[in-house]
Amino acid sequence: MMNFRATAATAALLCFTAFGASPASADGEVNVYTYREAKLIQPLFDAFTKDTGIKVNVVSASSGLEQRMKTEGANSPADVLLTVDIGRLDDAVKAGVTQPIKSVVIDEIVPAQYRDPDGHWAGISMRARVIYASKDRVKQDKITYEELADPKWKGKICIRSGQHIYNNGLFAAYTAKYGEAKAEEWLKGVKANLAQKPSGGDREAARDVAAGKCDIGIGNTYYWALMMNNDPEKKPWAEATKVILPTFEGGGTHVNLSGVLLAKNAPNKANGVKLIEWLVGDKAQQIYADSNYEYPVRSGVAVNPTIAGYGKLTADPLPIAKIAANRKAASTLVDKVGFDN
Ligand SMILES: [Fe+2]
Repeated sequence: MMNFRATAATAALLCFTAFGASPASADGEVNVYTYREAKLIQPLFDAFTKDTGIKVNVVSASSGLEQRMKTEGANSPADVLLTVDIGRLDDAVKAGVTQPIKSVVIDEIVPAQYRDPDGHWAGISMRARVIYASKDRVKQDKITYEELADPKWKGKICIRSGQHIYNNGLFAAYTAKYGEAKAEEWLKGVKANLAQKPSGGDREAARDVAAGKCDIGIGNTYYWALMMNNDPEKKPWAEATKVILPTFEGGGTHVNLSGVLLAKNAPNKANGVKLIEWLVGDKAQQIYADSNYEYPVRSGVAVNPTIAGYGKLTADPLPIAKIAANRKAASTLVDKVGFDN
């Protein structure tokens, strides 16, 4: 979700050394590969070590971890892969580098819609794909995803590439709900409403709304909070916009996951499962969701106040596995309608 500075190759080199040099602790260790920024998740792993005595070795990279695990094969030191978006979770499963988690704790705490039916991935927090609307120019406080194709928004929508995993997830959800023909029609309508060629990232959608280039931008929930609270330079982009949680007609808001997978050749499998189970505990959920501005997957854990300020999230009930199953169709439709052209 963040900007990662280290390249996969750099991280690989650094961390290979770290693994080789680390003495195992009495309670053993667990090796985590992650796309999340190392310094952001370190407090979480420190808490795990404090609770369990298990040492956590982290490999942090911006891309290529599944491929790396595949290349490492049976010798891969990876136990757990921590990543974001069903696109990446699904890619890891398709790469054949995972095994079912098989945990009663996970099955009890993580709602079924946020787990792989085959057990290969489980969500640990959620992010929603929402609207950053101009405070000045958008009067309404409610909107549906369907409405994004309404000609009333002609020339008023800013969005990043339709092939980006975040949009792919949303478009796949639409496809899962309505089928390909209707999804195509909708995508054509959304495309016709774009103020400009899809570009930039989610923050830039808010930037362009702030600059008056469009009235609504599409972005994930945590970026707005990051701009507002952690990024003085971009704070004006958040200040110019209000977050609206869109819903599907008769449904809820599209959410995607930050999730976890158990490596196929995990050398410390039991510790890997322990870590995964610990991640959905009360304390970890609080730290993890709060530090990333995400929604905790465990019920009863408080949502960060900035995120809570968007309004009450009613997540769409569509199982995330159905979104995974429609990823390819959504991607094909994006090309077919020339969404990014
Ligand atoms: Fe992100």
